[in-house]
Amino acid sequence: MSVKEETLLLVAPVTWAGIWTAPIAAQAPELKVFVHDRDEYDPAAIDYVLSFRPPPGLLKTLPNIRAVFSLGAGVDGFLADPEYPRQVPLVRFVHESLAREMAHYAVLHALLFHRRQRNFDAAQTDHAWRQSFPPRKTEDTHIGIFGMGEIGCVIAAAFRDLGFPVTGWSRTRKDLSGVRSYAGEAERAEFLAGTDILVCVLPLTDDTRGILNKDLFAQLPRGAYLINIARGGHQVPEDIISAIDGGQLEGATLDVFDPEPLPPNSPLWSHPKITVTPHVAALTDPFVMAKSAVDGIRLIQSGKPLINVVDFERGY
Ligand code: NAP
Ligand code: GLV
Repeated sequence: MSVKEETLLLVAPVTWAGIWTAPIAAQAPELKVFVHDRDEYDPAAIDYVLSFRPPPGLLKTLPNIRAVFSLGAGVDGFLADPEYPRQVPLVRFVHESLAREMAHYAVLHALLFHRRQRNFDAAQTDHAWRQSFPPRKTEDTHIGIFGMGEIGCVIAAAFRDLGFPVTGWSRTRKDLSGVRSYAGEAERAEFLAGTDILVCVLPLTDDTRGILNKDLFAQLPRGAYLINIARGGHQVPEDIISAIDGGQLEGATLDVFDPEPLPPNSPLWSHPKITVTPHVAALTDPFVMAKSAVDGIRLIQSGKPLINVVDFERGY
């Protein structure tokens, strides 16, 4: 009796396809890999999908898929598809390397603010020896992590280990040494009132869309700093700009936008107190991602339960 060849469909920009297909071929040479929009394939023959933001409606045309693997940690690109076939498990990308890179990014931008590095950059441009920008006191600079999941907990630990007081906010209470945990809507205002640098690493869901708005900024201490490395859909850009111009926020670092790429005429690009980066806080390592997807496929093949499966009701 012949065993059916298993197939994986990559749904990603065709120009980048090789980045993902090569490490999959290296780790699972028996898998037949098709690239959507490049290869001809029989939709009924596809077993697994690897993607990040598949075109809405595409997944429902694949009647026999057994699992969908996300190329990233955030899965809002899948849940935006109202026709996502919910009987098919959606597996998030979770890996310590991704969390570590996010922590590096958050620490880098918090320290640029905390140590007033932008002022020294300006002084250097002027060839001016200005010693008049003392760093803030580390013990008095409270870091608040918005979203204490796989990534948020690693970021919180990184700041704690640098000597900052750190708090975290999540739906459920956490027990992370040296980090005070706030949980749920009822404790959000107290968390915000004690946060000088807010790092947003929440998933984008119906509950969190637009959460970084003027009402929230008003609950932070005056002169707080915002770092958003989660999703552009969390932030209201005009509220960020007016909070900075009015002095409620001292500045912001934004890595994510809605839409992406950030349009050239967006005022965020040129605001002197906003740092913009093009969704690079942490890039998925293709080899690590391929291994994670292949490990998931092996679990399915051996009849074991998948890990890091998205809860469609929660939305993350
Ligand atoms: P995760 O493990 O699912 O953690 C999500 C955290 O958010 C959890 O602590 C969760 O609370 C909390 N949360 C969710 N909804 C909430 C709500 N309504 N109120 C309070 N807390 C809520 O996700 P992750 O792996 O850490 O990733 C987080 C996000 O980072 C991703 O969704 C993605 O958007 C973003 N990301 C961005 C980049 C980049 O390069 N910019 C790279 C990777 C990831 P509970 O723990 O109580 O469930
Ligand atoms: C990147 O944005 C991710 O969700 O991993």
